[in-house]
Amino acid sequence: MARVVPLLLLLLLVVWPCPAASAGRNDDPPGASCYKRLFSLGDSITDAGNLASVAPNTSVLAFPYGETFFRRPTGRFCDGRLIVDFIAEALKLPFLTPFLAGKTAADFRQGANFAVSGATALSQQFFKDMGLDLAILPPFSLDVQLEWFKRVLHLLGPTEKERQDIMSSSLFLLGEIGINDYNHPFFQNRSFVDEIRPLVPKVIEKIENATKVLFGLGAKTIVVPGTIPVGCMPRYLTMFQSDNPGDYDAAGCIRWLNDFAEEHNRALRRMLGQLRPRDDHPGVAVVYADYYGAILEITRNPLKHGFRKDVALTACCGDGGPHNSGTLIACNATSVLCPDPSRHISWDGVHLTEAAYQFVAGGVLDGPYAAPPILSKCRC
Ligand SMILES: *[C@@H]1O[C@H](CO)[C@@H](O)[C@H](O)[C@H]1NC(C)=O
Ligand SMILES: *[C@@H]1O[C@H](CO)[C@@H](O)[C@H](O)[C@H]1NC(C)=O
Ligand SMILES: *[C@@H]1O[C@H](CO)[C@@H](O)[C@H](O)[C@H]1NC(C)=O
Ligand SMILES: *[C@@H]1O[C@H](CO)[C@@H](O)[C@H](O)[C@H]1NC(C)=O
Repeated sequence: MARVVPLLLLLLLVVWPCPAASAGRNDDPPGASCYKRLFSLGDSITDAGNLASVAPNTSVLAFPYGETFFRRPTGRFCDGRLIVDFIAEALKLPFLTPFLAGKTAADFRQGANFAVSGATALSQQFFKDMGLDLAILPPFSLDVQLEWFKRVLHLLGPTEKERQDIMSSSLFLLGEIGINDYNHPFFQNRSFVDEIRPLVPKVIEKIENATKVLFGLGAKTIVVPGTIPVGCMPRYLTMFQSDNPGDYDAAGCIRWLNDFAEEHNRALRRMLGQLRPRDDHPGVAVVYADYYGAILEITRNPLKHGFRKDVALTACCGDGGPHNSGTLIACNATSVLCPDPSRHISWDGVHLTEAAYQFVAGGVLDGPYAAPPILSKCRC
């Protein structure tokens, strides 16, 4: 025993440097006093009201969005809480104020959420140059969200010293971002081989640049999620349905779409792996969050995790049809609505239910879907 314990401690210290300033004491509840703030960037998987602030007519501001937890629409593309909300809860932080809904430093004292539904990693101009219709492609890409972050950082910390303290005691959730870089051209019938697949290295480079900007400002811990298994999402299952059984895996997901998501995630991990051991950034950590693996697990083994098997590939809220997801923005007050969203994985055909997000968040906070899990740092 005496020899095992120090070795384990040593291993933990090696993978997760524990800066004295932010490490919780052993008798604190997990998560308490671990990070003083949480900042998130991304798209509708993480947006808690930014798009709704600038587009008050969006469908996400009507019933049944929000019905499960908040009992009212909040601007989240979900029936309840998102992954970022569960992370905030676990860190004993309040739900983050969406940047576009806040005004003063007090609104952002414990963090801010810069994610915007529909947002891309690459700039809006990039897609304009591709000739895409920009009607639902907001001008709030990753670079814009980083500029917003810098404004909040200066609001919270007028001096360089204060800003350094803020950066080093905050957790950053950089994503999910990237899925819309592919979604927008997919939904506008662009060629997968000639136009969509070649975007991967550019999207990854954009995420790399954003990660470096945050590290350059003094961030110590950045969680970067990969993309989700789009081949299992009802909207895609409808859009790319096929008569060839070979196009589907054993769970009924479309293989080539999931292969594509994996290609993006492999490139992302490779990039993050090359960032990791940086002599010029001692004590920093970048963590890959495997949203893909978590969602695939509940899709393949729904019963084991409390989900219904018969609707694992069917939206809870939609406009009917085999996957209850016939059109892009399918969920509104006239929709076919399932009786119990907690047993569905997909909420509206594109986004997941609170129950599914809770499973993903648990796997990122406690493992096995992040290495090291976020909360492991809080138990130093
Ligand atoms: C928003 O909805 C209101 C009420 O339905 C309507 O009068 C208004 O024209 C809409 N605005 C936009 C920009 O669509
Ligand atoms: C894409 O193709 C489908 C099927 O051919 C068509 O119904 C839809 O209108 C097209 N969408 C766009 C944006 O061109
Ligand atoms: C990433 O940053 C480099 C160096 O500043 C720049 O040359 C490159 O264009 C950036 N990449 C993207 C996709 O913005
Ligand atoms: C609700 O969604 C359906 C299709 O999913 C659409 O035809 C209808 O116009 C939408 N209703 C409202 C009020 O947005």
